[in-house]
Amino acid sequence: MSLIPKRVEKLQERLAKESLGGMLVTNLTNVRYLSGFTGSAGSCLILDQKSYFISDGRYLTQSKEQVQDMEIIIDTGSHLQIIRDNNLISNGTTLGFEADFLPVNQMNKLRELFPDTQWEVTSRFVEEIAAVKDKSELRAIRSAVEITDEVFDQLIPELRIGSVEREVAAKISFAYKILGADGDSYDPIVASGPNSALPHAVPSDREFQDGDFVVMDFGALYQGYHADMTRTVAIGSVTDRHREIYSVVQEAQKRGCEAARAGMTCRELDAVTRDHITEKGYGDYYVHGTGHGLGLEVHTMPRLSQISDDTLLENYVVTIEPGIYIPEFGGVRIEDDVIIQNDGCEILNRSTKDLLVLS
Ligand code: GLY
Ligand code: MN
Ligand code: MN
Repeated sequence: MSLIPKRVEKLQERLAKESLGGMLVTNLTNVRYLSGFTGSAGSCLILDQKSYFISDGRYLTQSKEQVQDMEIIIDTGSHLQIIRDNNLISNGTTLGFEADFLPVNQMNKLRELFPDTQWEVTSRFVEEIAAVKDKSELRAIRSAVEITDEVFDQLIPELRIGSVEREVAAKISFAYKILGADGDSYDPIVASGPNSALPHAVPSDREFQDGDFVVMDFGALYQGYHADMTRTVAIGSVTDRHREIYSVVQEAQKRGCEAARAGMTCRELDAVTRDHITEKGYGDYYVHGTGHGLGLEVHTMPRLSQISDDTLLENYVVTIEPGIYIPEFGGVRIEDDVIIQNDGCEILNRSTKDLLVLS
């Protein structure tokens, strides 16, 4: 049996706890999570006893095939107007809306079209449920990561002096499709030499040179689920400085993986990787958080950062990705995707994290 209706039940339980009679879900990723719909236009109205899926004529057939356990309403015009015209909301109800995603003009429209409904701000209601992955989601993420590892295997022989960042990135994207993925989780980062000091560099026409670090951050998208892996290699020859920086990041990433478990806060996990890098004198060069949740979005809750109050729960899938970035010299990041468990975590990536020096 599909696990999707269970997600709606969990949301209904949360709404009841918050004394809400329902919720309007407009964020497309959350719509997909709750309904199974993968198209580009849809909303869900989740009420305590019944749920509706609203879309337009382009999705008549697709929504019938995909949407589970919801009444499907296909019409023209804005989804709010369709809800109004079909009298889906009883007068006097208190409903939530997704404050993180509803534009102000839509919120004004809500108040105008439904003057007898009290609209309450909600934040992260669906995301908190979606952070705990079910079996079907874990299967999809495992496949996304397996394809990503396979692409890295295929890529290694292509990495040498003279390789071009942009061409390596294109080969990554091509390989995903050939291996059966939907495509890229996000545009691949291939950053060589000084470019590798930019955590989110865009691939350029630069050719790899002797003494470069090359940061490659890439992931496959599979059945809507994102992988997100980074490996850093060196080109030609390396100095003691390269080896030191690499080993500090490698050790920080290892410590993060060893420490991660359900019950710890995201701030605590962030501190594990950050403390090691700081102790080694590179704290000022670690310019981002330790990681983030993965799922139907590549960056989702929880955020593993110094300011996060979230606690890790069993079956969260998160990245662990410390890095050091020395301007004009280069950078190193190592990133794995892990499933949080009660007694530790399972690292999904199998690509080596030892320093590869390639020529
Ligand atoms: N690819 C972006 C990140 O690792 O978060
Ligand atoms: Mn990444
Ligand atoms: Mn990441």
